[in-house]
Amino acid sequence: MKIFLDSANLTEIREAKAWGAIDGVTTNPTLVAKEGREFFPLLKEICGVVQGPVSMETTCRDAEGMIREGRVFAALDPHIVVKCPLTKEGLRATRQLTNEQIRVNVTLCFSASQALLAAKAGACFVSPFVGRLDDISGDGMGLIRDIKAIYANYAFSTQILVASVRHPMHVVEAAKLGADIATMPFAVLDALVTHPLTAAGLDRFLQDWERLPASAKTWKTAEPSARDTR
Ligand code: E4P
Repeated sequence: MKIFLDSANLTEIREAKAWGAIDGVTTNPTLVAKEGREFFPLLKEICGVVQGPVSMETTCRDAEGMIREGRVFAALDPHIVVKCPLTKEGLRATRQLTNEQIRVNVTLCFSASQALLAAKAGACFVSPFVGRLDDISGDGMGLIRDIKAIYANYAFSTQILVASVRHPMHVVEAAKLGADIATMPFAVLDALVTHPLTAAGLDRFLQDWERLPASAKTWKTAEPSARDTR
């Protein structure tokens, strides 16, 4: 499963990229507004760091407006994926932009029927929001299971991008169900790495190592051999 970072913050994106952990980034108007920076240079910089798909959301309700914005976004950088909402107008825009070879991520998906229509419209990605469904006592991961079954039945190529991820178990469940991608905030990515037994185990190993006399650790000051420096 691919992992995307759901963030427009360059510090977070650079850090996650340095871990070798992320394959792409998703943004939305809320995340971009938080940065308080000019939109286009920020997105261009994010693309330069990520070198993978970067979703950028259209900011209007009508298909014509989405198509207009989508063309401008796509011209900004080859990594840009245009995000359109899962509305009738959003589907119209998706079909048109897809016809123009512009990749679309259909966002704000909350039902399997919506996901079916996103695939019919030619979406490259569909983003079901599992956390927001769970927030209202829905079954976020059940939705992923349904979409997965429907797409498999008809061999749709639209990739399932699990969004609105709130905690590590959403990521684990998404991977068990065979979702193509999960996008998550930096805090969730960080929580994926962290385990108290790893921290305690490392503390113990390093304390035990300290008991070994310095004379037994001469390798620390040794010159690297020719082979080591190659
Ligand atoms: C995905 O593309 C969205 O930006 C995001 O996952 C929404 O998550 P939220 O429900 O935590 O705002």
